[in-house]
Amino acid sequence: MFFDLFRSSLPKNFLEGACDMHSHLLPGVDDGFPDFEKTMEGLSFMKKLGYRKAKMTPHFMKDYRENVRETIEAKYQEFLAKAGPLPLELSLAGEYMLDSQFLDRFEEGFLTLDREQTMVLCETSYMMAEPNAKEMLYQIMLKGLQPVIAHPERYNYASMALYKRWKERDYLLQLNLLSLGGAYGDTAKAKARKLLVEKMYNYVGTDLHRVANVERWIEAIKLTTKERDQLEVLLENNKTL
Ligand SMILES: [Fe+2]
Repeated sequence: MFFDLFRSSLPKNFLEGACDMHSHLLPGVDDGFPDFEKTMEGLSFMKKLGYRKAKMTPHFMKDYRENVRETIEAKYQEFLAKAGPLPLELSLAGEYMLDSQFLDRFEEGFLTLDREQTMVLCETSYMMAEPNAKEMLYQIMLKGLQPVIAHPERYNYASMALYKRWKERDYLLQLNLLSLGGAYGDTAKAKARKLLVEKMYNYVGTDLHRVANVERWIEAIKLTTKERDQLEVLLENNKTL
């Protein structure tokens, strides 16, 4: 494509020392990594890409009812005990679907992204948001917590006007890195590029579910200098988590 003449691939060591703040590496709890061995392969793969740290952010949603804070924390500890020394520094958080179960999460408390324990990674379904999603986000803020909205570029129903409203309400936005390579289609890619240059994102994550094809999608990422500079800002922000 003509406009891609002004874009280039990510430099070789672009992800060196990076922190991934969104992954489904905790084995056997959701649609992410299915077992211990695959997770260990996933961690080595991340290390090879240059990552230094990763957060495991399993799904908390009504489709995985058994995923409550207590069981996820126990499975994480079980994983650490079995794994021994790890190629990456790991920590545990969660990705919370704004669905009909969401308000119950306040009782058990959230597995947050940051050291201050305020940042809650939230998602909606891709096709349409739960009618009460707006109220749920408001409730998070009311409790003194900070919503971080995962992969906004992937929400088919969301317009730039909605993204702007989210920013006006001080919600933070997290880019899925592979959206920039087209892993979720051309619309998500175009939205990701636009949100990136407009400095709407705060953080970037892989949302890693499987290692297959990830290198291909990373190689497919072609950015302008402006986009790449902004992506670097996000990687720096990630290091504060
Ligand atoms: Fe995710």
